[in-house]
Amino acid sequence: MKQYRIAFIGTGKVIPSHLHALQQAGERAQLVAAVDVNAERVEAVSKANGIPYWFTDATQMLADIQPDLVHILTPPHTHFPLILQCLKAGAYVYCEKPLCASLDQFDRISEAEAATGNYVSTVFQWRFGSAAQHLKRLIEEGVLGRPLVGHCNTLWYRDAAYYAVPWRGKWATELGGPTMGLGIHLTDLFLWLMDEWEEVQAMTATLDRDIEVEDVAMAMIRFSSGALGHVTNSALSPRQESYLRLDFQRATVECSALYRYHNANWQFSIADNSPYDESLAQWQNIGTDISGTHAVQLGEILNSMDAGKRPFLSGHEARRIIEFSASLYKSAFTNQPVRRGSITAADPFYYAMNGKPR
Ligand SMILES: NC(=O)c1ccc[n+]([C@@H]2O[C@H](COP(=O)([O-])OP(=O)(O)OC[C@H]3O[C@@H](n4cnc5c(N)ncnc54)[C@H](O)[C@@H]3O)[C@@H](O)[C@H]2O)c1
Repeated sequence: MKQYRIAFIGTGKVIPSHLHALQQAGERAQLVAAVDVNAERVEAVSKANGIPYWFTDATQMLADIQPDLVHILTPPHTHFPLILQCLKAGAYVYCEKPLCASLDQFDRISEAEAATGNYVSTVFQWRFGSAAQHLKRLIEEGVLGRPLVGHCNTLWYRDAAYYAVPWRGKWATELGGPTMGLGIHLTDLFLWLMDEWEEVQAMTATLDRDIEVEDVAMAMIRFSSGALGHVTNSALSPRQESYLRLDFQRATVECSALYRYHNANWQFSIADNSPYDESLAQWQNIGTDISGTHAVQLGEILNSMDAGKRPFLSGHEARRIIEFSASLYKSAFTNQPVRRGSITAADPFYYAMNGKPR
């Protein structure tokens, strides 16, 4: 078993999920350094968690420590330059969402991966729960028939205090509204389960928060299979819910949860009077309840590092949501449907989610 030396860049609110992931990784992962531009915070967090070295500058940390894997836990606009630095310094990267600001940045990250031989994974812990993994297997085996109709609702509530954090609510720093910051988890899972998406038509609005970006977005999607889907990303919904519903030819599968799901959050139904045969009964075999957490995803990344291969949530699997988000915003800003593959380097939406020069 190999042991990897790990560093965190950013020691803010999301850090407990990453500390828990490291604990779960046991001896495979040793947290050797932390970086934050806030000197007091990085010192306090490091002392509280037994992290031996701390820095206020990522360049210095990479030179001194030479970690194998870096978790990037900083505000969204800082991810891209930090990712490039880490790859060049010889590290794999596990980066919080949203990975980057644009398709242009994503494609430059891919070039850096190719040049360095190191890989970048986006944090999308929802893909790693036992129920989602089980459902994906059943879909691939054709047990449920084709998906025909899908709903993906991230209905969360974020008040003025949430948006008072200086990097939030702005195109330049949060990189978008709930489409990039909140609904991105469930939408990523939805797009992975349904099929490749083909076309999106969207509307966004800023209805009740004093922010530049949207506080609600709605999108209709046509998938390659012909199936239709719908996504809502809201920061304005007092009764909060993350709700996913897929209607297949033979069954409906739903998940209602908030920030994390267990097997019990998933519901399986068939039409009245329709036969419940042995193949449909396979839904019951979800197996041990594994909640999709950072810890499960980190385990997959360490396995990929052992094997010297690309982690699951990188490359094509990570680009899909960036392209979808760019297309959703382009549709909303231009009032036109947008097809997958149509945003190329000649398009302003290739460079920024709002299509404006930065
Ligand atoms: N996956 C999830 O479920 C989840 C949940 C919450 C947040 N997030 C993501 O985690 C990231 C961080 O969010 P947060 O709520 O912890 O933010 P935060 O503002 O609480 O913390 C960010 C930290 O990064 C530091 N920082 C800023 N720029 C830096 C730089 N260039 N180098 C080093 N340190 C720097 C800040 O000083 C701060 O301590 C965001 O991308 C957010 O979207 C993910």
